[in-house]
Amino acid sequence: MSLTNNSIGHKNDVFNYGFYIQYLKNDSSLLNTLSDKYGSDKGEVSSNLNPYPWPSHNYTDFYSLVFGLRRNEVKTVVECGIGTNNPALKSSMGVAGKPGASLRLWKEYFPNANILGCDIDDDILFSEERINTFHCDQTSPESIKSFLSNAEIIEGSVDIIIDDGLHEYYAGVCFFENIIASLRLDGIYIIEDVTHDDIIKYKNYFYENNAAFEARFVFLKSPLRTWGDDNNLICITRKTIL
Ligand SMILES: C[S@@+](CC[C@H](N)C(=O)[O-])C[C@H]1O[C@@H](n2cnc3c(N)ncnc32)[C@H](O)[C@@H]1O
Repeated sequence: MSLTNNSIGHKNDVFNYGFYIQYLKNDSSLLNTLSDKYGSDKGEVSSNLNPYPWPSHNYTDFYSLVFGLRRNEVKTVVECGIGTNNPALKSSMGVAGKPGASLRLWKEYFPNANILGCDIDDDILFSEERINTFHCDQTSPESIKSFLSNAEIIEGSVDIIIDDGLHEYYAGVCFFENIIASLRLDGIYIIEDVTHDDIIKYKNYFYENNAAFEARFVFLKSPLRTWGDDNNLICITRKTIL
């Protein structure tokens, strides 16, 4: 599939920010090991340990590159999407799901960080040392505002924000617009599981907002997954004080 084809309606100059990360079968990758240990589908060492009926992503290959250098410096991580195991809910991990898997992965990977999670499913909220979780519907600005207040998140304080929630364009934009002021100026904002259709919408969105943000579109290539699925993410940094 040619992603530089103008006929699909994106703004070409924004598209040039896209790059590809090749699957790296790396048994010594800490993030892959932690994905297996806690049951997140962000990566894997062994498919036998993956509790889900779908193959893992290889986001860990990218995260090892961008987060590896600041492991000890990261103080606050926010992730939307705790990983419900209620199959009736949208974006559920299914009955084999392990709620909190990625939050525990981040906690072990960033030894000096507090991890704040949020989700629409109140049944999976929990707290343990260095992890706190809160209700949030990412499609509602009011709900995001309440989450920020309840979690006592102040402006410009968060090192990493990850949207692994509903995975629909309007929800992604709503969460981004209502939480982005919390990101540090040198922080990193990630949107996971972006379909190729939504990539085009996000490209146009970030084209319109390119004075404030730089968005890089990352296409993860993996033999575990079908090329053209949602194994893509967007990595956003701030350019200006909002
Ligand atoms: C893919 S799972 C997250 C997996 C987890 N981050 C991990 O790697 O282990 C997606 C989560 O998004 C939540 N979700 C769905 N719609 C949501 C919404 N509108 N607001 C917030 N969370 C939502 C689901 O309840 C589910 O727990």
